[in-house]
Amino acid sequence: MKQLLIVAHAPSVNTQALREAARRGAEHPNLEHVVCTVKTPFEAGPADLLACDAVLLGTTENLGYMSGALKDFFDRSYYPVLDEKQGLPCALYIRAGHDGTGTQRAVESIVTGLRWRWVQHPVVLRGEWQETFATQVEELAMTLAAGLDSGMF
Ligand SMILES: Cc1cc2nc3c(=O)[nH]c(=O)nc-3n(C[C@H](O)[C@H](O)[C@H](O)COP(=O)(O)O)c2cc1C
Repeated sequence: MKQLLIVAHAPSVNTQALREAARRGAEHPNLEHVVCTVKTPFEAGPADLLACDAVLLGTTENLGYMSGALKDFFDRSYYPVLDEKQGLPCALYIRAGHDGTGTQRAVESIVTGLRWRWVQHPVVLRGEWQETFATQVEELAMTLAAGLDSGMF
């Protein structure tokens, strides 16, 4: 079985709905070869990354940057996984009240340093909350999981 790790910060009802949507997408019943683990960035650490075959990151934008929670996850995980996880397939969603660009730039910079591999474009869910945001995250997670399931990566 392939392991999909979802690490998503969810400090609000809306962002909890996004994280649940990610889980739904990753656990689509047609996917037979993927096991999904969902953690907050505070719960997750390098051991989870070392054990996974792909990672989906989710964060809010706060003060023009990724959540402190996700940054802390990267701070604790960067060097312990740097050598072993190069090429790790990854994807990202950002919930931003009005912007999201600072967060996208910051995560892209860290992912470049880690030499992970983007398999989807980052999804930025900007502005007033819309129900379609959850659908977008579900599809993002499903696409990532389907790629793992089919052995595409
Ligand atoms: C302290 C704080 C700082 C924030 N800074 C930003 C920001 O710099 N850019 C932005 O787009 N949204 C910002 N937001 C809005 C959050 O991204 C948004 O409230 C969060 O993603 C939760 O989404 P929700 O309101 O749909 O639950 C901020 C929110 C808080 C509480």
